[in-house]
Amino acid sequence: MIDEILASLSLEEKIKLLSGENAWHMEGLASFDLPGLTLTDGPHGVRLADEAAGEYFASKPATAFPIEAAMAATWNIDLIEEMAVHMGYESRFHGVQVLLGPGVNGKRSPLAGRNFEYFSEDPYLTGKMGTAFVKGVQSQGVGTSVKHYVGNEQETNRMVISSEIDSQALHEIYLKPFKMIVDEANPWTMMCAYNALNGVPLSRNPSLLIDILRNQWGYDGLVMSDWGAVWDKIESIKNCLDLEMPGPGKQDELAIQAYKDNALSMDSIDHRLRRVLALMMRSKKEFKPLKDYDFKKSHDIAKQVAAEAMVLLKNNGILPIKEKEAIGIIGEFAKKPRIQGGGSSHINPTVLNSFYKVMTQEKEIDYAAGYHGGQTNDELIKEALELAQSKDKVLLFVGTTELIEGEGFDRLDMKLPKGHRRLIDALIKVHDHIVLLNFSGSAVDLSAYTIDVAAIVQCWLPGQAGSEALRDLIYGQQNFSGKLSETFPLCLEHNPSYLSFPGSIDEVSYKESIFVGYRYYDTKKLPVLYPFGHGLSYTYFEYADLKVSSDEIIDDESLEVTVKITNTGDYSGQEVIQVYYGKPSAVVKRADKNLIKFKKVSLKSNESTTVKLLLKRDDFEFYSKKLKGMAVEEGHYQIFIGSSSRDIRLIKDIYIHSTDDVKEALSVNHSIRAFINDPEYGENILNIFNNLGFDKSNGLYEVMLGMPLKVALGIVQSFNLEEEKVEPLYQVIQSLQEKE
Ligand code: BGC
Repeated sequence: MIDEILASLSLEEKIKLLSGENAWHMEGLASFDLPGLTLTDGPHGVRLADEAAGEYFASKPATAFPIEAAMAATWNIDLIEEMAVHMGYESRFHGVQVLLGPGVNGKRSPLAGRNFEYFSEDPYLTGKMGTAFVKGVQSQGVGTSVKHYVGNEQETNRMVISSEIDSQALHEIYLKPFKMIVDEANPWTMMCAYNALNGVPLSRNPSLLIDILRNQWGYDGLVMSDWGAVWDKIESIKNCLDLEMPGPGKQDELAIQAYKDNALSMDSIDHRLRRVLALMMRSKKEFKPLKDYDFKKSHDIAKQVAAEAMVLLKNNGILPIKEKEAIGIIGEFAKKPRIQGGGSSHINPTVLNSFYKVMTQEKEIDYAAGYHGGQTNDELIKEALELAQSKDKVLLFVGTTELIEGEGFDRLDMKLPKGHRRLIDALIKVHDHIVLLNFSGSAVDLSAYTIDVAAIVQCWLPGQAGSEALRDLIYGQQNFSGKLSETFPLCLEHNPSYLSFPGSIDEVSYKESIFVGYRYYDTKKLPVLYPFGHGLSYTYFEYADLKVSSDEIIDDESLEVTVKITNTGDYSGQEVIQVYYGKPSAVVKRADKNLIKFKKVSLKSNESTTVKLLLKRDDFEFYSKKLKGMAVEEGHYQIFIGSSSRDIRLIKDIYIHSTDDVKEALSVNHSIRAFINDPEYGENILNIFNNLGFDKSNGLYEVMLGMPLKVALGIVQSFNLEEEKVEPLYQVIQSLQEKE
């Protein structure tokens, strides 16, 4: 059918179809009974613009789910897939064929304004969450758009900047989640980022769009632009960008002229159009509208996600709160809940109960605002202090405001708003029983309070059901099981991107390379405020009996790891078992720990279970510049089993045999020492130099060992040594030069 359509369309009609119809729609082809499509943000719910009401920015009511950073903090793949199924229902109900999400960019700096909209600083956790999201939505015959491909880790200058990323970091950190999702969930569409990568804009980047995405990964879905990311339509068409959004295209005339001037081929145009048509056909086949939908179902699952996402960072025993205790609620967020991030993912929630409302349904509880927005004053502080002093325990709501954190701008620092800080400082002087409830989309600096407050909960931006989830958690009706999806560093200056974020107007260099988040803090052995993967519970878990199916494997064999987990406390609870690998000596420096598997298990008090995890080749892969691809290095590895990246409970050593030849080939520029240490050359080179009179007794021996082979030859020749002794060295050099 596609061939038939292509044959029937004029050049003008074809070019027109390579852009959207308007902001949120793709035009259909009535003559072939192919309906148009509605595309809508994503990823925290369905943000369908209320066009009937003439509104571009206002949207129809839909469930506001917790932000992606919170979704990842559940570490519960099944739950996120289930949640995404509900987003699929809502998309069907609203007539949305493609939901624009998930966002799977990385987090090199806590300051990045859109961190809330991305899952994690770890690419594996991001990849697993993104896969679950895509599977869930697409199970409903609704497409997704995995974004923003790739290197969009900041908002500053995002539309013009070039992210300069080395090949190892690009493949191991930034491309990895996209690849995992393409391999495991086959998203209907992907969205290219605004930025350039190493100088070439993503909307016309042949290396990323053609070589990697199409040729290496075999992706066969549609690639659309981010909104307004196409600067050169002709180059975009040539380089495999299928659809420009939003439409209508502003450069259609130019593209038509380019075709007439033989500067753009019909083959390129048709290839792009084939993807557009394939998407329309897929959607026509799979999309089934829903007439009615019970939004309560989505609300319930949004609550469950929020409850599993909130992270108990500290608890000196103050939580859970007992019914009879006199509590006071302080902080405007308790009445005006901070539930979601600002920007394109902003949802118009179906219901929204404040925490104060949820708490006061059955009894009166005293409240003081403490601040308005990010500001406070003497009066508000005084009121808050008076309230606090009359209560056993204080629930103190703080966090970032929409003015501090959101799409389109990066944060200036990691601090809470000034007014919130002043309020906390005043309260901790007079009260020992404060529960600090922090609402933010990314790590904030809480280091000044960790000693003085009794408990801290990272609530994220928990979506429309967040208040209900929080009430259940702090009263112990549900146990905490969230774990940080990103490190809370001790201070911003410790962050590895501190000196290079956000770069200049046209360039940002990812100088920290693969050492992002805990990969950096752990390898540098820097203290952190709260480590990646950290999260307390009302119960305790014991780890024992770590077993591996073999101490030695070949790289394409899998390794079964089992570990016994026991809930040794008094509450039922859930634990996230995290598996990291380390490779202490390697051809290229690796992080001390790299997350490769995790599993969330649910256990009653005194219950045990044996958790089984299967480790595979990809888990140990790194990017080999020599092989220009992912490879496994032969050698010793460590398997760490932990409850966070800094709370490693059990370790096992294994050996992996590999046929990937990742060692850099020796050249005449390598030192004599490198040749002597090499199994192939070692003995020969040692003999040659001994014969030439250089042995350990020679005072210049060490100096000589450090010289590149080619320089050594010149020096040896200048010593007027016998020719037959110099000749073998000359021959080695010649044979190496021939290989180059
Ligand atoms: C954002 C995308 C979003 C699009 C449509 C862009 O500015 O970067 O994430 O999907 O707008 O709202």
